[in-house]
Amino acid sequence: MDISIQNLNKVYKNNYQALTDVNLDIESGMFGLLGPNGAGKSTLMKILVTLLEPSGGDILVNGKPLSKNRQDVRSMIGYLPQDFRFFAKLKTYEFLDYAASLAGISSRKERRNEVERLLEQVGLYEVRNRYANKLSGGMKRRLGIAQAIVGDPKIVIVDEPTTGLDPEERIRFRNILADLSQRDVIIVLSTHIVGDISSTCTQMALLNEGKIGFTGSPNDFLELSQGKVWRTHVNFDQMEVFKQKYPVITTIPDANGYEVELIAPSADDFVGEAIAPNLEHAYVYFMEYETNNSLSSHE
Ligand SMILES: Nc1ncnc2c1ncn2[C@@H]1O[C@H](COP(=O)(O)OP(=O)(O)O)[C@@H](O)[C@H]1O
Ligand SMILES: [Mg+2]
Repeated sequence: MDISIQNLNKVYKNNYQALTDVNLDIESGMFGLLGPNGAGKSTLMKILVTLLEPSGGDILVNGKPLSKNRQDVRSMIGYLPQDFRFFAKLKTYEFLDYAASLAGISSRKERRNEVERLLEQVGLYEVRNRYANKLSGGMKRRLGIAQAIVGDPKIVIVDEPTTGLDPEERIRFRNILADLSQRDVIIVLSTHIVGDISSTCTQMALLNEGKIGFTGSPNDFLELSQGKVWRTHVNFDQMEVFKQKYPVITTIPDANGYEVELIAPSADDFVGEAIAPNLEHAYVYFMEYETNNSLSSHE
């Protein structure tokens, strides 16, 4: 499986350019699309799932242009939209049964097997008789992923699936996706939360203001900020100056000031020890020093 996004542009009717010359190669495995709110993640995903037409460029799915194979490609795709809602009047299993008929599984018996398999896979078997709108937030999201993977789609697109989930549900959701990515499928996951880009992502891209700023492995992304993350001690009266000057990641107060971790191209004007970056450091570094719109106030 491979998806090749080529010079994709999207200009909305009000002339707002949401995507500018997006080029991406996506192969089997989990692909993390990271970007702040308004970056264009949902726009890109809606184009991928054929709900929206691009203004320019095309997407090749296994070498075939999406623009000429919309029906074929659509049948390969499962999609969990960012604002996913379901019919309140349906029980959990009824909703999935309905999703299975929409996915083209016409045999009742086949549908029943598929629904049972999905309920097990996402851990909703116990609550299958509960009305879908009575499920907890995390369960609703798992029902969302279940409807996206009805009928074993080759491409699974999930748009900010972890927003608003507590840490336990977040991990649970991530594990469901990780299991899924063991097969020969493409999973594209968008998020504005750096922590969602886990080691299970084989590839990632950073989208900012409609442009791809980085693409590669999470490790490659970490490399960008290698040698730019510092641990140092800052006295009380210097703290404001430091915050103006550098993105300060963590501050731990002590008797005469703070132990801080900050991002800086060099340690020319303070005494600090370079520490190994994590993805959050790399993200802050990237937004601050490799784009035009810095995270500004550094707070
Ligand atoms: N239908 C639309 N018409 C005009 N502008 C839109 C429309 N949908 C989204 N946008 C704008 O495009 C930009 C990207 O939106 P979106 O793709 O939803 O970003 P993200 O999912 O990364 O938060 C935002 O500035 C948003 O306001
Ligand atoms: Mg979005």
